[in-house]
Amino acid sequence: MPPPPNLCREPQLPALRSEQPGSLFSLTPFLPVHLTGTKYSCGSGGCGACTVMVSRYDPKTKKIHHYPVTACLVPICSLYGAAVTTVEGVGSIKTRIHPVQERLAKCHGTQCGFCSPGMVMSIYTLLRNHPEPTPEQITEALGGNLCRCTGYRPIVESGKTFCAESAVCQMKGSGKCCMDQEEKSFTSRQEKMCTKLYNEDEFQPFDPSQEPIFPPELIRMAEDPNKRRLTFRGKRTTWITPVNLNDLLELKTNFPEAPIIMGNTAVGPSIKFRDEFHPVFISPLGLQELYFVDSTDDGVTIGAGYSLAQLNDALHFIVSEQPKEKTKTYHALLKHLRTLAGAQIRNMATLGGHVVSRPNFSDLNPILAAGNATINLISKEGKRQIPLDGRFLEKSPEANLKSEETVLSVYIPHSTRWHFVSGLRIAQRQENAFAMVNAGMSVKFEDGTDTIKELQMFYGSVGPTVVSASKTCQQLTGRYWNDQMLSDACQLVLDEIYIPPDAEGGMVEYRRTLIISLLFKFYLKVRRGLNKMDPHKFPDIPERFVSALEDFPIETPQGIQMFQCVDPYQPPQDPVGHPVMHQSAIKHTTGEAVFVDDIPPISQELFLAVVTSTRAHAKIILIDTSEALALPGVADVITAEDVPGDNNYQGEIFYAQNEVICVGQIVCTVAADTYAHAKEAAKKVRIVYEDLEPRIITIEQALEHNSFLSAEKKIEQGNVEQAFKHVDQIIEGEVHVEGQEHFYMETQTILAIPQEEDKEMVLHLGTQFQTHVQEYVAAALNIPRNRIACHTKRAGGAFGGKVSKPALLGAVSAVAANKTGRPIRFILERGDDMLITAGRHPLLGKYKIGFMNNGVIKAADIEYYINGGCTPDESELVMEFIVLRCENAYYIPNFRCRGRPCKTNLPSNTAFRGFGFPQGIVVSEAYITAVASQCNLTPEQVKEINMYKRTSRTVHKQIFNPEPLRRCWKECLEKSSFSARKLAAEEFNKKNYWKKRGLAVVPMKFTVGMPTTFYNQAAALVHIYLDGSVLVSHGGCELGQGLHTKMIQVASRELNIPESYIHLSETNTTTVPNATFTAGSMGADINGKAVQNACQILKARLQPVIRKNPKGTWEEWISEAYEESINLSTTGYFKGYQTNMDWKKGEGDAFPYFVYGASCSEVEVDCLTGAHKLLRTDIFMDAAFSINPAVDIGQIEGAFVQGMGFYTIEELKYSPEGVLYSRGPDDYKIPTVTEIPEEFNVTLVRSQNPIAIYSSKGLGEAGMFLGSSVLFAIYDAVAAARRERGLTKTFTLSSPATPELIRMTCVDQFTDMVRVVRRAPY
Ligand SMILES: Cc1cc2nc3c(=O)[nH]c(=O)nc-3n(C[C@H](O)[C@H](O)[C@H](O)COP(=O)(O)OP(=O)(O)OC[C@H]3O[C@@H](n4cnc5c(N)ncnc54)[C@H](O)[C@@H]3O)c2cc1C
Ligand code: FES
Ligand code: FES
Repeated sequence: MPPPPNLCREPQLPALRSEQPGSLFSLTPFLPVHLTGTKYSCGSGGCGACTVMVSRYDPKTKKIHHYPVTACLVPICSLYGAAVTTVEGVGSIKTRIHPVQERLAKCHGTQCGFCSPGMVMSIYTLLRNHPEPTPEQITEALGGNLCRCTGYRPIVESGKTFCAESAVCQMKGSGKCCMDQEEKSFTSRQEKMCTKLYNEDEFQPFDPSQEPIFPPELIRMAEDPNKRRLTFRGKRTTWITPVNLNDLLELKTNFPEAPIIMGNTAVGPSIKFRDEFHPVFISPLGLQELYFVDSTDDGVTIGAGYSLAQLNDALHFIVSEQPKEKTKTYHALLKHLRTLAGAQIRNMATLGGHVVSRPNFSDLNPILAAGNATINLISKEGKRQIPLDGRFLEKSPEANLKSEETVLSVYIPHSTRWHFVSGLRIAQRQENAFAMVNAGMSVKFEDGTDTIKELQMFYGSVGPTVVSASKTCQQLTGRYWNDQMLSDACQLVLDEIYIPPDAEGGMVEYRRTLIISLLFKFYLKVRRGLNKMDPHKFPDIPERFVSALEDFPIETPQGIQMFQCVDPYQPPQDPVGHPVMHQSAIKHTTGEAVFVDDIPPISQELFLAVVTSTRAHAKIILIDTSEALALPGVADVITAEDVPGDNNYQGEIFYAQNEVICVGQIVCTVAADTYAHAKEAAKKVRIVYEDLEPRIITIEQALEHNSFLSAEKKIEQGNVEQAFKHVDQIIEGEVHVEGQEHFYMETQTILAIPQEEDKEMVLHLGTQFQTHVQEYVAAALNIPRNRIACHTKRAGGAFGGKVSKPALLGAVSAVAANKTGRPIRFILERGDDMLITAGRHPLLGKYKIGFMNNGVIKAADIEYYINGGCTPDESELVMEFIVLRCENAYYIPNFRCRGRPCKTNLPSNTAFRGFGFPQGIVVSEAYITAVASQCNLTPEQVKEINMYKRTSRTVHKQIFNPEPLRRCWKECLEKSSFSARKLAAEEFNKKNYWKKRGLAVVPMKFTVGMPTTFYNQAAALVHIYLDGSVLVSHGGCELGQGLHTKMIQVASRELNIPESYIHLSETNTTTVPNATFTAGSMGADINGKAVQNACQILKARLQPVIRKNPKGTWEEWISEAYEESINLSTTGYFKGYQTNMDWKKGEGDAFPYFVYGASCSEVEVDCLTGAHKLLRTDIFMDAAFSINPAVDIGQIEGAFVQGMGFYTIEELKYSPEGVLYSRGPDDYKIPTVTEIPEEFNVTLVRSQNPIAIYSSKGLGEAGMFLGSSVLFAIYDAVAAARRERGLTKTFTLSSPATPELIRMTCVDQFTDMVRVVRRAPY
């Protein structure tokens, strides 16, 4: 059989013979090794990193259909006859880069670059179909692509450059444009502000006619009248593609149990994650008979093969053709089709597959059922029709398909005049998230009346299947559509749909509330509809309820970025201060940037799979590896016994020994020739446990057991006890802030290569702290550190998660490499990464605040506890940072803050961007808000009253000048038009009962660096070669934050040579030893000083030759210097900022300097569902002098969006036994392009910071906390709802403010109908 020809990449069909289990699946492993652009990040279709374009020729329409898919879910055999274009096929540095790649890079739409090829493919595929897309199409195309670094704004902006409409601020010229305002307000300033981070004049034009043609042989193949059945046989599985419908029916008769594979979006995940096995697959993908639309006067029949994207197009067409009253079902379907999964899944998943797989969360089936759709079935026996009704959806055996039957099509009748159909849904995130509850509802009335003739209600995500509230509907038939009916309906439906307290997915009260809240929405919609039909007969709903009818629209984000322009007198060659593109940006977008897993296979290499503990605290009775060792390809199983050195180093355990202390602890690893073999064998390792007491999971349990990782940390000023006696009021409260998963797009990946001689070991890994890896590996192997070489080219995101964990995982891999004597490739799957490496510490804050009635806070006593997990990791340091920074921007004369990290049986939490600040400071903002409420003041007034105003000392007695803080605060209030918008929001709230708007401004005093000088040191090594080219090395790691880019800018300025002369290859322990971690926002600060030092040394050495030949060129000077035996290589060194902290006294100059900022956010909340929409955010960040405004703004935006996710939708779920449930993008929702502010403005505020290089500031983390403005804006909106409902003023706020929390806090008649239980914090 010939291999399938295609456009760019040849899926290697012969590779099937290598027979990995499941080898017929997933395109990703078959992408030829040298093409590394297509990234693998989740394997479940949920992140878009693996997006490629598939193109097929349709012989019927004679058209080529291009569509995006997630390669990880594309079965290789399904690609026969298709062309696959990967990012390499779009463009490459070696040939020509494509405008999509160029613009994504130049618009600064890439940071770490791991998501970038997927982004390129999504935009590229859109352009292949729509060369001049609308901004909405760009946003829609990107909905299935996650990025953890950028905050999406620049990615959307790069896409918008292809739109016909102007790509710049859509409000420009309207008088509302922030840019217009700024221009006016800055005329009086000395410093001119710029708003252009890139120059679109530099873009190469986009010419759609230049795209590669579809291979003619594929057209010939598709049109071949003599096509035959295709069979691909593997060792365990056979894939059959029938040639026509009869053939399909024949196959279904012969293999009735074989699944029909269409989009593979339901079958694929079952095989991968639920170990489903099928010996035979039948794939009629592309079979002409399954692709058609047949429209009649009564309805439309749509072929089962139609993808959901094609279904969407077909329905849009029908809606445009038919009168409105006939299209209510189609409109309902279209609404859900916009947010169902991302564009890739919508292009893969088919109507037939969706209907038959009947997921309980299905967004379409409830509507189809409510719309009385029927399923057309076919088998060798003939055709029949079955209703797509409650019995089918509830999987009643008698309503099922017979095993030999195939769905041919689905018939959807038109709606009628007195007939209303709606789809309703709420998910953790607006797009690309399974619904937490959804519904399809319809009602038919007796003509001309509001008497119910037929009512149907179907709910998804309330049980193991979609369920029908048929009894309720029956009982309501004949009733009038009025409030009494609604009230009865709510009670009946709650009685009928039971969600047991221990139901999978939890959120029982919330889901029950949603059942009736959605019903209420439907009720309102229908009443409105009736009123529109006959306003005299049917009264309209109250005007204040109207906004409850619509979901939040998905808008294309926009905004302005403002920064200080470069001094016009600065030499043009000097890049410092310019928005220079990321050094690797083009490589990111072409997929040529090499990440660890892109390193080609090394001879003899083995893959490692982990076996982790399933118990939180237990004795290991037995580890039986015999079955695993007997499996093919398995080289060895590695346990604690194999660690030649220290297995328990500094309290961190590499392989569990004797006992396990959390679920997810590594017990052993399996090394095998392929990852599939290793994984298969890992499942066969049998471990016998005996549970041990106590099992401590929550902070509360740790407090009960007095279980801590370190001693209390405390700072104090004034006399707190005394002050409490002289205040007007005292409030006490608790704030729970839950944890966060790093969700870096590149999971932890390590390549450990044992060397032939002297026990040397080379490790390639994405880390923030190579020295730590070296230290742990040396300890585990019991060899000196000089034998361990660590290399980091780049990491695909890190955010603190790659500070300490790579050391542990490096030791685990090095032990395996040492034992087997073979290179080890260790790539954590997303689920394992989330389970093993943990994340941000959950926090419990307790406060007691004494204040005067005018809002002045006199005394504060704060206690903090964080859940550190089972080993020390960085928990003590995190707590120190929380305590040191907890006052934030406020001066409270009598202030005490204490904190302790708790030891629990959870995986060990670790560093995360902001290092405790984002959790800790929520507590300060929460008590400020509570004080405001008690004093009848606004939170902003209380913040203003208590904010530091003049040069002062922090609680730990460090002197600082808060002038930039006050400037950021003031500008934020003014430029965001806070007061006017607050009034407008209040007006809105008066007019809208079920939707509320809220605004909040948060100020920030953040810190950079470490309280210990030696941690702030850095070194660099700079070589000048004889052709004048310069190689810069330093101890910092490139994590996407643009560190290397800034270092090149520094070297360029210092040596006075163009950036193009300078190269920065990688970070490694052999060139720059003992480097400190790249964290704490000080990477550019300290490494910049070291690079500067090295360059200045070299420049000084060159002075004599320059003096001799002042008009000479750089190249001439270098050559002359060499001839004069001048050393052209040197190290540069920065001793570190002088910092100190005396914990005994509770004082010290703990930080080199402070970063200030403020952000204002406005949200709208749907009180009935708990959904929120972020309308606008304005950030003012004190950047001092920005070395690279594009990089700094990128960091601020990215951190803000990460913070916003942390405070709103990112929710880790554990069982009471300490098992993490959220282990992938399906269960853990980071923000997508639809979550970011509709209007997102960032301004870099100028200040002085002489201590840092070029008077800059480190901005890597500061934006994270500013995301809490969204949390407090939600709080404001919820408070408005509660006030209107006559509820007590203050209420406990915790983070994240998920839809569940928002909904259940907006107490009303619906929440009252269900019992509310408190969430268990961890
Ligand atoms: C990342 C991701 C996000 C998702 N998000 C959502 C979401 O937000 N909302 C939502 O509702 N759904 C969502 N889904 C689910 C998705 O809608 C379904 O998986 C999809 O519709 C199934 O279609 P398919 O063509 O891929 O089915 P396949 O996986 O190919 O097949 C599924 C089943 O249907 C059977 N089958 C397929 N076609 C036929 C036929 N013609 N006749 C008989 N049997 C047939 C197969 O035998 C198989 O058992 C998501 C899925 C993924 C992977
Ligand atoms: S790796 Fe394929 S979607 Fe995430
Ligand atoms: S640049 Fe998008 S994940 Fe890093």
